[in-house]
Amino acid sequence: MPRAIALFASARRHGNTGAFMDRIAGELGIEVVDLGALCIAPYDYAHSHRDDDFEPLMRRVLACDHIIFASPVYWYAVSSPMKIFLDRVTDFLDLPELLEDGRRLRGKTGYVVCTSIYDAAPGPFVDAFRDTFEYLGMRFGGIAHVNCADGYQPAQHDAAAVAFAYLLKDRMPG
Ligand SMILES: Cc1cc2nc3c(=O)[nH]c(=O)nc-3n(C[C@H](O)[C@H](O)[C@H](O)COP(=O)(O)O)c2cc1C
Repeated sequence: MPRAIALFASARRHGNTGAFMDRIAGELGIEVVDLGALCIAPYDYAHSHRDDDFEPLMRRVLACDHIIFASPVYWYAVSSPMKIFLDRVTDFLDLPELLEDGRRLRGKTGYVVCTSIYDAAPGPFVDAFRDTFEYLGMRFGGIAHVNCADGYQPAQHDAAAVAFAYLLKDRMPG
């Protein structure tokens, strides 16, 4: 079973958040899934997009114990593809045939990886993840944030990436 997966969503793949996430993932040897590169339609009550990339992705996510959500702070909130992904998790609560799989999120550990132009992520940004994890029965495993007001600077920011990766490594069996 893969131990961890990173769900990444930014308006640019190789920007600040991408560089930060890639440094963490490189240390852990885990996959980074670019949500924006997949075809995932916004949530709709009629669930009329069940044939898009969301359900196959969720099955890969459900196979992991540790799930990293990586997004820049855009207007105090997550990027659009991340919001769409989070909204679509609702499918696994709404649809009776997906509910049993949705319940498998319980007990998994969620993490937040983010960048902004301040020294800390906005409280509401972090709280949205905390509250969502709690609602889904997931543990909040931690947050890694770096101030990228001057862009992602490896000399300045790599240490935070490596420290965060080690936190996860300690929680994963050999
Ligand atoms: C549309 C947009 C909105 C942003 N809103 C915020 C914000 O509310 N707070 C903040 O600290 N930085 C904000 N920023 C700055 C980004 O969080 C920061 O530059 C981040 O490192 C960008 O990551 P990226 O290269 O992955 O896009 C915003 C940037 C953009 C493009």
